[in-house]
Amino acid sequence: MAGNNSLTKAKANKEDEFYTQISDVEKELKHYTKHFKGKHVFCNCDDPEESSFWRYFALNFSRLGLSRLTSTHYKESGESYRLDIYKDVPESEKHKPTFLTLEGSNIELPLGYITDLKEDGDFRSQESIAILQECDIVVTNPPFSLFREFIIQLFDYQKDFLIIGNQNAITYKEIFNYLQSNQMWLGANYGDMAFKVPDHYEPRKTRFWIDDFGQKWRSLGNICWFTNLDFKKRHEDLILYKKYTPDEFPKYDEYDAINVNKVAEIPYDYDGIMGVPITFLNKRSPEQFDLIGIDRYVPDNPHYGKRFTLNNKEVYARILIKRKASK
Ligand SMILES: C[S@@+](CC[C@H](N)C(=O)[O-])C[C@H]1O[C@@H](n2cnc3c(N)ncnc32)[C@H](O)[C@@H]1O
Repeated sequence: MAGNNSLTKAKANKEDEFYTQISDVEKELKHYTKHFKGKHVFCNCDDPEESSFWRYFALNFSRLGLSRLTSTHYKESGESYRLDIYKDVPESEKHKPTFLTLEGSNIELPLGYITDLKEDGDFRSQESIAILQECDIVVTNPPFSLFREFIIQLFDYQKDFLIIGNQNAITYKEIFNYLQSNQMWLGANYGDMAFKVPDHYEPRKTRFWIDDFGQKWRSLGNICWFTNLDFKKRHEDLILYKKYTPDEFPKYDEYDAINVNKVAEIPYDYDGIMGVPITFLNKRSPEQFDLIGIDRYVPDNPHYGKRFTLNNKEVYARILIKRKASK
């Protein structure tokens, strides 16, 4: 019993079991429809019986014009399975067991073909990487504790992706490098999101509730999507109204940039470097601003690894930006 309890606790502490709602998947995916035609989508952290990503793509398989959908179910310490939906089912698959996801519904779903996996469905396993190599786009909400590793793997295999993450990840050095070099950007939705969580998750004072069906929920206020799929909204300029004055926008103690506390108040007429809150990335148009760096890791930070100060007081995390010369 003691062993089971500690395992349960370890699982809860990791807090990786946050199930995305289909409405949130839909709200984001509607910005990228054109990217999916003829594509093989891989949901590599998705138990098809639970996952709204699987469900969304299964329901919209024909509308999006997908060629294939694959999902792998991660099973800690155990053999797992993968599920594939095909536009044209290969002969070799036709004898396999099949799976439908919408029990009790009259919506007709394409059949999923089940294949047992020898490994546990870990996104880093050989079997999962083999699917990754074959697929075109990865779409999921990966475990937050492995987010850095997850993204690096996507870049190693040069895949298109649309994944959910936490705003804090933006300040990881490697993650910021991808953002700065425009190899990746934030998606369309940002901020609050509610997730179903397993029964063994402990209640919390805030952002936790149990619904009428006994389902536990948690919400987070700093959720964002990370992607390398282009979408229209990210090319819209931020409309700025504030004029620069040295009093309102002082320079940092030891770095040649002005401090801006609110994204909406970025001055429209300042040509030098500006330190702005991280939430700016949600509004950034690559045609309007260049990303110069992140406070702690900008190479000429005299206290590399530390945040900037104003009158000797540390300022919140800042992203350094500069207006494009033509703007
Ligand atoms: C944040 S939850 C999201 C689940 C699902 N993608 C969704 O959005 O509803 C992350 C999922 O990844 C699974 N997971 C944890 N470690 C994993 C690993 N190494 N490889 C693949 N999946 C993993 C967890 O079991 C969990 O279900």
